[in-house]
Amino acid sequence: MIEDGGGARGCPASREEPRVAHSRTLRFWLDPANIAVRLGQAGPVARTKAGPAVAFQVNDPSLIRKVGCGEDIFQAWSADPCLRDFTGDGFAGAEGQAHRDRRALMKPALAAPRLTALGPSVRDSTEGLLAGLPVDRPVDVPVEMSRLVAGLVIETVLKSGISPDLLAALARARSVLSAGVFWKYALSPWPWVPAPRSRAFRRALGTLNDATREVYERHQPDADGNDVVSLLKRSSDNRPDAALHDLRALLFAGIEATASTLAWACYELGRHPDHQAAIRAEADAVLGADAPADALRPEQMPRTAGFIREVTRLHGIPFLVRRPRHATYVGEQPVPAGALVTLPMGALRRDPARYARPEEFDPLRWSPEARPQLSPAALLPYGLGPRYCPGAAASEILTPVALASLVRSRTLRTTTPDRTVRVSLELTPMPKGLTMLAAPREPHSPLVPGPTSREEADPVRRP
Ligand code: HEM
Repeated sequence: MIEDGGGARGCPASREEPRVAHSRTLRFWLDPANIAVRLGQAGPVARTKAGPAVAFQVNDPSLIRKVGCGEDIFQAWSADPCLRDFTGDGFAGAEGQAHRDRRALMKPALAAPRLTALGPSVRDSTEGLLAGLPVDRPVDVPVEMSRLVAGLVIETVLKSGISPDLLAALARARSVLSAGVFWKYALSPWPWVPAPRSRAFRRALGTLNDATREVYERHQPDADGNDVVSLLKRSSDNRPDAALHDLRALLFAGIEATASTLAWACYELGRHPDHQAAIRAEADAVLGADAPADALRPEQMPRTAGFIREVTRLHGIPFLVRRPRHATYVGEQPVPAGALVTLPMGALRRDPARYARPEEFDPLRWSPEARPQLSPAALLPYGLGPRYCPGAAASEILTPVALASLVRSRTLRTTTPDRTVRVSLELTPMPKGLTMLAAPREPHSPLVPGPTSREEADPVRRP
């Protein structure tokens, strides 16, 4: 449905990807493989259309940077008034100086130098949270990865705790919230069209609010009082709601993309037992109980890090969206005020000019010995410009250590190997309804507690 360019239709034939399917209606926008084949043909900016919806897809890297960094002209999706009930008074919905000030406030708490001790606490928290993952029946991977990540973000980044029931409810609410925000934003030009499942969305927002309040109340500050929640609390004496809304944004965004990365990682682990074995061997060497705490760094885990980069390359956030505040030009292309402008990261990550065999899942392309050396930054996993992910440094430790800890204690197996996995229509794509077995590893590791059931589990971490 890209109007300029023409050329090949649909996905290029591939041995590796036939089991992932995108929404048929929105496939021309959402399926990175579909868009990638047109990148070379469509020119720097392509006008795309589906029914009444028009969007401008920016293909040229320097124009992508211009749009992504130019927030004075291109409004970020989270600042759109249609999402006000979701963003509230928090920084995610703020713009300009107010947004910059709030981001600057949180920055030291979320910066790499402060996060050196995060590795061991992520390992320990993951082991605790895995006690709640059933061993004897298929698990819903998106829900369980949301539960794992929510627990990790709360315990290790936000320094707080949450009851197991609320944690489980939050994990289930994530997809309703994510899909709800997606549809609210997509349908905002036609306010008379009701967004699907709006009552379920309100209930899920209530769950997110309850979780945020509990995290706020059970927060235990770091000894120096400079962790992120302490900074937010101190800075908003007169407006406690603002701190709660900021915390809510961190909690939701922290779960969203990290859970998606881990869910797709599980999917690929199921398809590639050889990589699962290699990650486990690395995890045993690095995460062992007698390993020094400062050894828990991603640089020590190249197989795991490469696996996550490849998951991001093929399954990461497919595009970012912006809307111009007034009529403008992107390159030579006139773009009307309010039009949807998409930055198609997913397609660039499948550009054959950058990646050999772009449709193939090959984590070894990221190994330190591979030639040419690929740049992880070129994947733009954390976006760009003023909305660049504030949790990037935390995620660089949290995601590999959580994945390695998971593989160290469980063996992930696909329950229905021939089933096509559909990609969900959410802010961050998920393998919709993917179920897998997460059996205790064989032979059983002496370092990992014995099999448990959900009933035996007690993932409440903090008093
Ligand atoms: C694999 C993990 C992650 C990925 C791939 C990721 C990716 C991203 C991307 C691409 C954006 C920019 C969106 C845009 O420009 O439209 C973003 C924003 C954001 N991320 Fe992350 N993220 C991850 C983990 C985290 C974590 C762990 C946290 C919090 C602890 C977090 C908090 C946020 C917040 C609050 C924003 C909004 C920033 C703003 O509006 O100024 N993210 N993330």
